[in-house]
Amino acid sequence: MTKIIPKISNLSFDLRYISDMAMKTPDCLRSDLGELNYPVPEVIRQKLKELADQQIFSYAPTFGDPDLLRAIRQFEEEKIKHFGSPAILVTSGGQAALFAALNSLLMPGDAILTDAIYYPPYANLARIAEAELINTSLETLDNARLSENIKVLLLNAPNNPTGKVYDQTTLVQLARLAREKDWIIIEDAVYSEIYFGEKPVSITAYCPERTLVINSASKNFCMPGMRIGWITGDESLISAIAKLHRNMNSCPNTLFQKVLAGFMPESTEYFSGLRIEMQKRRDAVMQLMDELHWYYQKPAGGIYLMCRVPGLTDTLGYAEKLIKDHGISLMPGLFFGKSEDQLRICFGALTMEEIAQFGKRLKYSLV
Ligand SMILES: Cc1ncc(COP(=O)(O)O)c(C=O)c1O
Repeated sequence: MTKIIPKISNLSFDLRYISDMAMKTPDCLRSDLGELNYPVPEVIRQKLKELADQQIFSYAPTFGDPDLLRAIRQFEEEKIKHFGSPAILVTSGGQAALFAALNSLLMPGDAILTDAIYYPPYANLARIAEAELINTSLETLDNARLSENIKVLLLNAPNNPTGKVYDQTTLVQLARLAREKDWIIIEDAVYSEIYFGEKPVSITAYCPERTLVINSASKNFCMPGMRIGWITGDESLISAIAKLHRNMNSCPNTLFQKVLAGFMPESTEYFSGLRIEMQKRRDAVMQLMDELHWYYQKPAGGIYLMCRVPGLTDTLGYAEKLIKDHGISLMPGLFFGKSEDQLRICFGALTMEEIAQFGKRLKYSLV
């Protein structure tokens, strides 16, 4: 047995611990991972068959398939208007974009500022980049107490797990601080098309010159297994990120890049349907919470709802028990930062029928 201690030893599997347990549990109603249970359009499936028959199995260009890059420019049209002429890099999902961006931009000892409640891999990504993760309320930032080491502001809206979006006052204030303190802003917008009401404003409207926007096919297009994402922004920053990304993945999946390029320009109607369905599911889960008298904040977008169970402290133990004894899964709040007493339900992962069934099992677990 080797005595070598792996460099990566202080990371956790966070969400995957619960989802792996749920996956192995027969008949478990799963609202753990952020996977949308929503049909992939027929045209995508057709296109995939067509392209497979054409034997498209080669490497893709370093920055991405030219057709997909054109489609992304159109998809991100509003942000591109603010940017002027940004560069785009197609990545192997939003996760690879986050990894490549943070690791190519940060020096050991730098800090990342993010919201009090955040997507759990941010903590692991910070550790890998040897950076500190500072998680605090972005709406009530105390300017004087901000660390000089902060180099990146990591904004995620609609937020995973809270479903929160930021109002204009907060965005303007954050943009002003970013300029004053010379931060790079990374806007993680992987839920950008899933909102319930006004379309959330991007910080690129106030501070485009120092913002990088990340998006992906995983949530907006309901295809997490496709592993296609992208990052947009200043050319010199994107070039550095591309050099790291090229060494992580020779290139993102070529066939799927072409499939997405074909569908993206005709996706407007699909998004309207997706939003209507997600809002129905959100409302059904909110109704369930009301019946249980569990406190929650109404999600403005995304596919999750965070709730607080009166008197509950061990959310991990509770989540494990719900899987083992009642065949329902959700995520314990302790993975998400300052939310140790909360639970995350992914309503996007459950159909309306499954939400009804989930509610029955949850109520039964409480008697
Ligand atoms: C906020 C956020 N960012 C990034 C990702 C990564 O998404 P993917 O790598 O599947 O594109 C996720 C996935 O859950 C997420 O919730």
